[in-house]
Amino acid sequence: MAKALVGLVTGAASGLGKATVNRLVNDGYKVIMCDLPTSSGNTIAGSLGSHVKFVPTDVRSETDVKKAVDTCQELYGKVNLIVNCAGISTARKTCNFNKGSPHDLQEFSNILMVNVVGSFNVIRLGAALMGKNEVDENDQRGVIINTSGFAAFDGQMGQAALAASHGALNSMTLTIARDMASQNIRHCTIAPGLFDTPLTDFLPEKVKSFFSDMTPFPKRLGKPEEFANLVVSIVNNPFLNAEVIRLDGALRFS
Ligand SMILES: NC(=O)c1ccc[n+]([C@@H]2O[C@H](COP(=O)([O-])OP(=O)(O)OC[C@H]3O[C@@H](n4cnc5c(N)ncnc54)[C@H](O)[C@@H]3O)[C@@H](O)[C@H]2O)c1
Repeated sequence: MAKALVGLVTGAASGLGKATVNRLVNDGYKVIMCDLPTSSGNTIAGSLGSHVKFVPTDVRSETDVKKAVDTCQELYGKVNLIVNCAGISTARKTCNFNKGSPHDLQEFSNILMVNVVGSFNVIRLGAALMGKNEVDENDQRGVIINTSGFAAFDGQMGQAALAASHGALNSMTLTIARDMASQNIRHCTIAPGLFDTPLTDFLPEKVKSFFSDMTPFPKRLGKPEEFANLVVSIVNNPFLNAEVIRLDGALRFS
């Protein structure tokens, strides 16, 4: 029997990351769940069985991410798949002219620190372990997937920080794929439209149904399981590399 694959997922205690963990566990993976110590990661991991381990991780921290990767090596000896879903959002205009207040600079840089620097931190440290894998039947050592978002393409008012972070994730997809190619590792980025997760819980039902109506087909928000489906599809297609894939029911904002 083939040895179980090992996945490391960030933002694993909620939304898209949590759905990815559930899917990987169902597919027989061993999983390292990374999320903030304040998250419900430990409880979720406990409910999923002995092949799932929660490692409290702030993706911005070199120490935390090293510990997560080291734990992966100690427990499972390898990592085959890394999925970065840890991310934060904000809605703030570049300058609020009515109040005379510019966008808080710390808030802007925190979005970039978590979404971009955090994802890169996980990739650079995780890749060092992934690169040691034996090649599989497709001559491949592993797959790394980032999560950006629709704001990279048609960011709305108040999304300067989010658009900058998602755009950066999209832009670094090709270059990271090229950097990883010598070790037979693939890298893709998923750019979700609007998904029904705790991140979008703050939206009033009226606004959610407005966005659902705007979506050509299917007329609804995405389901986190559909994101997890795409993760698995990317893994299962050995010729897919350096691609930014929109997953949004054809939703486009003007
Ligand atoms: N839900 C959507 O509609 C949507 C749309 C486009 C893009 N995205 C992107 O997808 C990603 C996941 O979104 P989601 O909907 O699952 O959000 P979510 O809020 O449900 O989950 C995000 C998780 O990331 C964790 N996290 C936040 N900061 C962290 C840090 N510094 N270190 C480690 N973990 C941290 C949170 O604790 C949380 O568990 C985000 O980057 C988001 O911008 C989501």
